Amino acid sequence: MTTQETRLQAAELLFPADFVWGAATSAYQIEGAVEEDGRGRSIWDTFVRQPGRIVNGENADVAIDHYHRYRDDVRLMAELGLGAYRFSVSWPRIQPDGSGPVNARGLDFYSRLVDELLERGVDPWVTLYHWDLPQALEDAGGWPSRETSKRFADYAAAVHDALGDRVRNWSTVNEPWCAAFLGYASGEHAPGRREPAQAVRAAHHLLLAHGLATQAMRAQRPDSRIGGCVNLYAISPQTESEADRDAARRIDGLQNRFFLDALLKGAYPEDVLIDLDGMADFTEDGDMEIVSAPIDMLLINYYSRFTVSGIPGGAASAAAAPTDAGSPWVGSEAVSFVQAGRPVTAMGWEIDDTGLREILLRLAREYPSVPLVISENGAAFEDVVGDDGVVHDRERVDYIEAHLRTCHAAIEAGVPLKGYFAWSLMDNFEWAWGYDKRFGLVRVDYATQERIPKESALWYAGTIRRGGLNGPAE
Ligand code: FCB
Repeated sequence: MTTQETRLQAAELLFPADFVWGAATSAYQIEGAVEEDGRGRSIWDTFVRQPGRIVNGENADVAIDHYHRYRDDVRLMAELGLGAYRFSVSWPRIQPDGSGPVNARGLDFYSRLVDELLERGVDPWVTLYHWDLPQALEDAGGWPSRETSKRFADYAAAVHDALGDRVRNWSTVNEPWCAAFLGYASGEHAPGRREPAQAVRAAHHLLLAHGLATQAMRAQRPDSRIGGCVNLYAISPQTESEADRDAARRIDGLQNRFFLDALLKGAYPEDVLIDLDGMADFTEDGDMEIVSAPIDMLLINYYSRFTVSGIPGGAASAAAAPTDAGSPWVGSEAVSFVQAGRPVTAMGWEIDDTGLREILLRLAREYPSVPLVISENGAAFEDVVGDDGVVHDRERVDYIEAHLRTCHAAIEAGVPLKGYFAWSLMDNFEWAWGYDKRFGLVRVDYATQERIPKESALWYAGTIRRGGLNGPAE
């Protein structure tokens, strides 16, 4: 029997043979070792030390100690049969102050990690920026400063130069929406500033950084596959009233189209610029050509749907921030977020795989055809360890299975979807929520650092082995 026949027998919803099955993490959330091997300080190291920023005052100084345990973690990935692992490189490990010579010891960690992955047959997918800006660059103005984009391009080129012989798949900035609007408008994330106009500058400079880095890496190695990474939401108006529909247009504009149009069409949407009321007037000639430099794939992080209302006075955000925070919705602060009554995860995020279908079909329809990859999708639940020592997280299995079914249907409908990365491989430091929310396929006992695959990890491993999902009856 050929391999393909075996796979056909095993799975009713078979994915393409070259579909990428992966899981994702990010540096600050897992590595720990914040003072080792010459690492500099990042804005998150500063932020977690400020009172009231993180639930229970936690920090990621140790996190899940991946810096020291990476070999075991890679072995675990191989045991689960992961085809690919998406991780991020910590900028302050490479350039402790955000510019200048490379710190060889910091770079060497990632070089060893990449070698280990390749040895075990797991394809490394590198994200260059997952929110840990060197503090020295924040002190010089942070993302609202144009200089930061140029520094990022230099850093990206240094990492790409060192790892590009072994790493084929690259992404630049993870979720520029979060880095800009949670970092500089609501203040829920580092650096915790509440300066709405500066957040718009930050968003543009994060996109500019993406473009400059893409150009720099392209010049080094034309065969690298480079993508931008956005977090997209399905957006619904609460009612068909004009006010609610306008609220939906605004939030779709700032969350989705601002980034998609910039990256894929080379222009910010006119209506969003009007919503921003002159706040985006600082861009320079030629910027948008750089921002929209050709990419080989678009990486999409998808978690939920927002239902919005134009009647002010409701929640200012879909899930209340765990700490004191302002509105991230610059220019559209009056929009209210309502719960539409769907089941929610432990984050309070509504579970809705139809939103993913909407987004995938929309991308295929409205944007120049670019291969798509789901670079994050997953859910936090109140995990309970069973008598057998295992977390039987059926809810997480259901969540991932429903979203994978949607992926399969989208591929059947002609969407160029090439891969799926579960968030996250292991429980880890969930930003302002600290260790309170667990997204892992693998449980981490924070006291002992023991890794114990949850039922979802074993289910995912089986799915990967079969190359797809069983029929609806499974
Ligand atoms: C995304 C982040 C990721 C993780 C998940 C839950 O916005 O990229 O680091 O926190 O949400």
